[in-house]
Amino acid sequence: MSKVDVSISKAGTVDFDKIREDFPVLSQQVNGHPLVYLDNGASSQMPAQVADRLDYYHRFEHSNVHRGIHTLSQQATDEYELTRKKIQAFINARHSEEIIYTTGTTDSINLVANSFGSLHFKEGDEIILSQMEHHANIVPWQMIAERTGAIIKVIPVDDRGDLDMEAYKNLLADKTKMVAIIHVSNALGTVNPAKEITDLAHESGAAVLIDGAQSAPHQVIDVQDIDCDFFTFSAHKMCGPTGFGILYGKKEILDEMPPYRGGGDMIDKVSFEETTYNVTPFKFEAGTPPIAAGIGLGSAVDYLNSIGMDEISRREHELVAYGVERLKRVDGLRFIGESENRASVISFVFDEIHASDMGTLLDKRGIAVRTGHHCAQPILRRFNVPATTRASLSFYNSKEDIDRLVDGIEYVKSFFE
Ligand code: ALA
Repeated sequence: MSKVDVSISKAGTVDFDKIREDFPVLSQQVNGHPLVYLDNGASSQMPAQVADRLDYYHRFEHSNVHRGIHTLSQQATDEYELTRKKIQAFINARHSEEIIYTTGTTDSINLVANSFGSLHFKEGDEIILSQMEHHANIVPWQMIAERTGAIIKVIPVDDRGDLDMEAYKNLLADKTKMVAIIHVSNALGTVNPAKEITDLAHESGAAVLIDGAQSAPHQVIDVQDIDCDFFTFSAHKMCGPTGFGILYGKKEILDEMPPYRGGGDMIDKVSFEETTYNVTPFKFEAGTPPIAAGIGLGSAVDYLNSIGMDEISRREHELVAYGVERLKRVDGLRFIGESENRASVISFVFDEIHASDMGTLLDKRGIAVRTGHHCAQPILRRFNVPATTRASLSFYNSKEDIDRLVDGIEYVKSFFE
């Protein structure tokens, strides 16, 4: 099996040009041009080390987990469970039982909304979200609110794309049972003050869910420092496979929560009269899971750790700063989201060019960006735009990728002059 081997010089400076070679997908041509992949917010690319790990599992290790007495099943179980420990360390959770395997951020939030919500929400209780949430952190709360009679309150966002923290303080009340906030906005790039949000919610007696889908791939995460009650993220945005994700929850809260889905593995004893449930985390993990994807996430975390999340964060901040500097000189370009605290995402519009035309024509030059509402319609409505063009960066991007984006935008503009 291939070992993780990224290029770190003796001085500790990461050679990101060399790291790029770990991603075979980046060396291909798209529409006759070398690929510039700037859609990492939707899904990041997978290094060869992780792809090899998945391949090895499928060729030599595949077996079902948690239910086999035979060697292969036990090996698969050990490898699959090892990811829980790796994630515990990656986000600095107290216990490995606090790491619940899910199919991704959306699934994690649905789990909390349904399980925590059905236990704790009643008529008139309040759930605080922000105007910059993506649909995965809106709709599950609306669904449980409808069932329980809870009410959703929304923190507004200012013109730069920052949360209005004064408005947030004013929304907090005795009736607030949950504050669920995106850590890094997928549409604006704003990094929200997760710790401050959590402290304020706790003073009001509310629980906090931080949606880390766009933060966990890009910065050091310490859930004990943030002190949030729940934290969610997805494997496929952090060099891992699709179909797998994490829900972190504080053990004492998870222990109280009822299971969300029924089936094999989540039970203790089953009869037609009564079923008792397995312990945390297994009571939330019904059925045969995506085993390969779980092992793949463990491998992705090894890969990210071998570069260093602080190095990744520093690199991406440099790239975003360079991107903003270059793009602000493009005539007619208007940023949507200009927070001082911004990570990995640059969203922009042109009055005369629809974002989907921009995306389609950039693609003709091999440049992959996302266009549209980014599954976050309310925040686009807040900025009075139907769609933006979004460049979302990863550590394997380069300044040359940004130069190519700027050249590509100038090329698109030439069609509209
Ligand atoms: N939420 C993902 C994105 O921002 C899908 O593209």
